Amino acid sequence: MNNKILITGATGGLGSKVINLLKQNVASKNLVVLVRDLDNELVNQYKNDGLELRIGDYANFESLENAFKDIDTLYFVSAGDDNNRSELHKNVVDVAKKVGIKHILYTSGVRKNESNVSPIATLIASHIQTENFIKDSGINYTIFRHNLYAEVIEMLIGDKNQLVKNKAIYLPTSNGITSFVPKDDLAEAEVKVILNPYLYLNKTLEFNGSESISFSEIAKNLSKILKVTIEYNSPEVPEFVNTMNRFGVPNHIIEMLSSFSLAIAQGEFDHQTNDLEMILGRKTKTIYDFLKQTYE
Ligand SMILES: NC(=O)c1ccc[n+]([C@@H]2O[C@H](COP(=O)([O-])OP(=O)(O)OC[C@H]3O[C@@H](n4cnc5c(N)ncnc54)[C@H](OP(=O)(O)O)[C@@H]3O)[C@@H](O)[C@H]2O)c1
Repeated sequence: MNNKILITGATGGLGSKVINLLKQNVASKNLVVLVRDLDNELVNQYKNDGLELRIGDYANFESLENAFKDIDTLYFVSAGDDNNRSELHKNVVDVAKKVGIKHILYTSGVRKNESNVSPIATLIASHIQTENFIKDSGINYTIFRHNLYAEVIEMLIGDKNQLVKNKAIYLPTSNGITSFVPKDDLAEAEVKVILNPYLYLNKTLEFNGSESISFSEIAKNLSKILKVTIEYNSPEVPEFVNTMNRFGVPNHIIEMLSSFSLAIAQGEFDHQTNDLEMILGRKTKTIYDFLKQTYE
């Protein structure tokens, strides 16, 4: 049976990894890539690989109607940080329904606290709403609830130069632990599901890394890797905000760092289910190895 697959988020970190793996398993005539802009190095690579490119923006309903035509399976990567995210995602699901897409695979997020007092309430609300749009549409689905990407660690604590200079991680995560997961592992598992979606029909899978780790342990790992002692300091959030302000860090970055740190401190990302290991047939890459690859 012909199964035409459309991959969204194709110019992003996760979508591009998924495409690179799928290319090895799917005839290029059945692999379609959604992009917003043709002026991108990855887009040229997809073109050279013989993949069909379609232009579409979640914000533009008509563009999606054209892009989703004759597609059977939609790998739907959540939009970036956007206050309108739910609206954008509703467009995606409405068009999928209108054009007769048969299966949606959506990249959602893990959570414990679904209330509006969660430090990451807006983000979580958009994932909950999107999961509901998909379920209410009647389209077959598989939902991947992602834990924090291991790549986020660098975003939270800085790069090698910053760490070697400061010799400290300064982040209000207290003793919170997170099951960080590298995007490579997510992409590998999600490709397995995309290729056999009927095995995971109408299932919600929680994708956590195999290891749960605190920033104090991350500091110890980085001390070994960088061969310099990296301290871990966890201030109270108001002190953190004041310090960041004094250093001229933009407000939206301070807000992002504070809310994710607080969520980590409150255990929002401390999940130990093993759907990911089950699909990969192995454990995810260790955080030590991930940090070594990123920081050495
Ligand atoms: N769990 C986590 O730790 C974590 C961390 C960060 C992000 N996320 C979420 O996971 C998603 C995938 O992560 P990533 O690292 O691959 O993100 P990324 O590198 O920022 O890529 C995001 C992709 O989504 C596309 N996109 C964004 N808004 C769109 C829209 N309105 N219409 C069509 N395409 C749109 C982008 O296209 P352009 O190139 O045109 O912008 C890009 O291809 C993110 O979008 C975000 O929702 C999760």
